[in-house]
Amino acid sequence: MTDTESARLIELDTGESIWESFFTVFPLVIVGTREADGSDDLAPKHLAMPMSWKNHFGFVCTPRHNTYQNIRRDRQFAVTYMRPSQTVLASLAATPRCDDGSKPIVEALPTFAAKSVDAVLVQDGYLFLECELEQIVDGLGDNSLIIGRIVAARVAEDAMRASDRDDEDLVFESPLLAYLYPGRFTEITNSNKLPFPAGFKR
Ligand SMILES: Cc1cc2nc3c(=O)[nH]c(=O)nc-3n(C[C@H](O)[C@H](O)[C@H](O)COP(=O)(O)O)c2cc1C
Repeated sequence: MTDTESARLIELDTGESIWESFFTVFPLVIVGTREADGSDDLAPKHLAMPMSWKNHFGFVCTPRHNTYQNIRRDRQFAVTYMRPSQTVLASLAATPRCDDGSKPIVEALPTFAAKSVDAVLVQDGYLFLECELEQIVDGLGDNSLIIGRIVAARVAEDAMRASDRDDEDLVFESPLLAYLYPGRFTEITNSNKLPFPAGFKR
């Protein structure tokens, strides 16, 4: 151990995916799209985040998934940010397709129609985004980055920040779901104010 290291560092093989060797924190969202046969599709994604402060949203998806093909065709999608109580629903949305390519589990999930795009959202999530496709970046290994422009957004009242409501209380009363890739999750109820430097501006 050297003076600059607080723990022994293990060199990872960058010829392989490194992300299974440790835990990192992600959100868990469900992306809704319209299938070619007109039925609803839902799929969980954790490689998902804002792509700008100007209301772009992006997520990583493989072209093998119907989600990718549906968005490439229809140029729109809907996003539900899931709550900690909804991990089973999120996981069920990843149920493998039947031999005929159908995904009947989607019909069993509680949904409602998006307003501005032709796709469904998941009931009881806390944040709902409706996006028109802006750009697809292909060729990231087996994956692609799908970027949408948010054309409608709704947040559950209990999750909405307000000047007369303490942020710490909000997170405690409306906990957040963190997906700890690979394969664990936690409910976030306790949070602290980040110590920004004096004069910090975004
Ligand atoms: C918890 C969880 C997180 C996932 N995150 C992603 C992701 O970020 N990107 C991705 O391409 N697939 C991800 N998947 C896998 C797909 O969503 C899944 O295989 C899905 O069934 C594809 O469905 P589709 O063919 O309807 O698009 C995730 C699956 C689970 C269970």
